Amino acid sequence: MKQIAAPKGWAQLLLTPPATPWAALRSVLAAGPAATMQTLIDAGLRGRGGGGFLTGEKWRITATSDAEVKYAVANGYESDPAVFTNRLLLEKNAQAVVEGLAAAALAVGAREAFIAVRAEYTEAIRALEAIVHNAERDGVLGANVLGSGRELYMSVRPLQGSSMIGEETVLLKALAGKRGQPEQTPPYPSTVGYLGKPTVVNNVATLAAVTWIISNGAAAFKQIGDPAEPGTALVQISGSLTNAGVMEVPTGTPLAEIAAAAGGPAKGATIKALLIGGPSGGFVPANLLASTPYSGGGLATVGAHIGSGALLAIDQSVAIPELAAMLTRWCADEACGKTIPCRIGTRRLAEIGQRFVDGLAGPQDVQKLHALAADVADSALCAHERLTPSPLLTGMRYFEREFVPAGVAAEKSGAVVGRSE
Ligand SMILES: Cc1cc2nc3c(=O)[nH]c(=O)nc-3n(C[C@H](O)[C@H](O)[C@H](O)COP(=O)(O)O)c2cc1C
Ligand code: SF4
Repeated sequence: MKQIAAPKGWAQLLLTPPATPWAALRSVLAAGPAATMQTLIDAGLRGRGGGGFLTGEKWRITATSDAEVKYAVANGYESDPAVFTNRLLLEKNAQAVVEGLAAAALAVGAREAFIAVRAEYTEAIRALEAIVHNAERDGVLGANVLGSGRELYMSVRPLQGSSMIGEETVLLKALAGKRGQPEQTPPYPSTVGYLGKPTVVNNVATLAAVTWIISNGAAAFKQIGDPAEPGTALVQISGSLTNAGVMEVPTGTPLAEIAAAAGGPAKGATIKALLIGGPSGGFVPANLLASTPYSGGGLATVGAHIGSGALLAIDQSVAIPELAAMLTRWCADEACGKTIPCRIGTRRLAEIGQRFVDGLAGPQDVQKLHALAADVADSALCAHERLTPSPLLTGMRYFEREFVPAGVAAEKSGAVVGRSE
């Protein structure tokens, strides 16, 4: 998996291994759980798995539980099949992920921790297993963590299955060898998680950021990127740009700057939109790229979200309705089927989308699509359903002319639909 070199001046903290391995873990042991969690809160670190929850606050919930048994889990499953940011991170900087997970476990009071990773990421698994094995051999992990008297056992857990395994409640069931369908939340895993015990679950990039923050301080982290959601993010760049691969981007960077850093439009291409967030992401049209920052807040204002970290550049040769319908169909296929509004609703959304592609959509399909999208989002048990309408909704919002059915076009031009005169 290729890394795209970032422009000079862009902090590269996730893909750069720590200068001194285990220094962050030593600092955690010296500072203690409360100070470690306060550092993460002061840093303003938000989860990189899509939800954007404050990491230090999440750890506090598990830490304050008086349960005897707790767990810590690194989520490296990476559910979007076109995204490899977690894979590259684990291949280049598994050390920071392992240290971040050890910090999480020690802070919340867990004696066991798992690194869940896609079974096909063999190079990443080898790197992780080597680090964990050597750490146990050297007394860094195990019965007496760095001589502190604390106990911590860690294992690498390859998983394989549908894209839903990335969702944390499914992930925890998969780790326990159970059939995976999301659970209603709350309660969140931080209180009821693996085997029913309080469990802190963090994306692997969040944990790599934890290691950097502990080594470099909350103030240094806050100076990077958007002050409201500081740090960097790993972005999977693909489509009609000159370079494809993974780029580490300071949060808040305008989308146009990211596209330029990836070499700008591929030869002969004119970019008409970026799809941000993966198969349930949102289209951002070319005229908004300079003013839209790559951040949870910035993307929300235009109907997109960070999601899986995918940035797909779309050129003039692509018909937005066709791409939106295909993505909706993929999301409908991936729905786990637990809740009827999602199982049936996402399928009906995909069918409406296809009617636009086939030129069979009537004016009623525009209203139906909006009404169904609202119902689907309102009844969502998990974010999969809530976000599935995004490509069709943002496609219609910004590329209405490509969707407008013949009947609506005729109405707008003053003609009367359905009469021959
Ligand atoms: C359908 C779906 C898929 C998800 N896939 C992933 C994933 O591949 N990796 C991930 O870390 N989080 C994924 N999440 C989010 C997790 O449920 C969870 O919020 C995250 O792992 C928490 O870590 P963080 O606080 O560090 O972001 C997914 C959520 C949903 C609803
Ligand atoms: S909303 Fe969809 S994906 Fe989520 S639990 Fe229900 S059926 Fe499964």
